[in-house]
Amino acid sequence: MLIPATGRLDVHSHMLPGIDDGCETIEESIASITMLKQAGYVGTICTPHLWPDMFPDNTPSNIDRWTGELTVQLAQRGIEYALWPGGELRLFKGVTDWMKTHGVPTLAGSRYVLTDFWEDHWPKYIDQSLDWLMAEGYQPILAHPERIGITKYETLVKHLKEATARGVLLQGNFRCMTGEDGYHQDQRVRQFLTEGRYWLMAMDMHRPDALPSRLDGMQMVVQEYGQQMVDLMTIDRPRIILTNG
Ligand SMILES: [Fe+2]
Repeated sequence: MLIPATGRLDVHSHMLPGIDDGCETIEESIASITMLKQAGYVGTICTPHLWPDMFPDNTPSNIDRWTGELTVQLAQRGIEYALWPGGELRLFKGVTDWMKTHGVPTLAGSRYVLTDFWEDHWPKYIDQSLDWLMAEGYQPILAHPERIGITKYETLVKHLKEATARGVLLQGNFRCMTGEDGYHQDQRVRQFLTEGRYWLMAMDMHRPDALPSRLDGMQMVVQEYGQQMVDLMTIDRPRIILTNG
């Protein structure tokens, strides 16, 4: 897929229809694309949840195929919008063995890998699996650290600082700006933006009904941190991923 020369690109998206808790039908995927295009987006890396307990069929090879199928469906309808395969890899005990069997779910075939976890503490396997990825030459990105269940802010920041010092990149969710994900998330996303902890921010869109609030969150970043910050994170940095920089 050619990289559009201009326009925003979303690197975290549950747009592929009917395979996780994201869009359920192709009509929902198309409704989402219509809204994203109005907001200046020209392409998306499709990142369904990769977590064998919940979504056993979601493997890198299946996601490649499903992304290709949605690309064909868009072309048949004359919709111009770029798609690339990826995944949001849930970190769990045994995730490295899972990757050895199924492959590493990279973003658009680059060395970048989007990961997440939700625990209320920072288990040992988090650092072990992130370190394994880096030792294998991959660049892990930890999605929405503002949503991790660790309640004590200082504890969360300590772990994030250690992870980023070793090379892990962080991606924030625009919607956390609106407060809809909770008070702590609302505070933390601003704190992390102010402290310059994010390398990226993204939509993490699921279904079209919730997309307007995610776009509102992006506008709030524009208002509070400036257009340049949003452009860096939705125009420039996604292209670093797509060119494997
Ligand atoms: Fe996600």
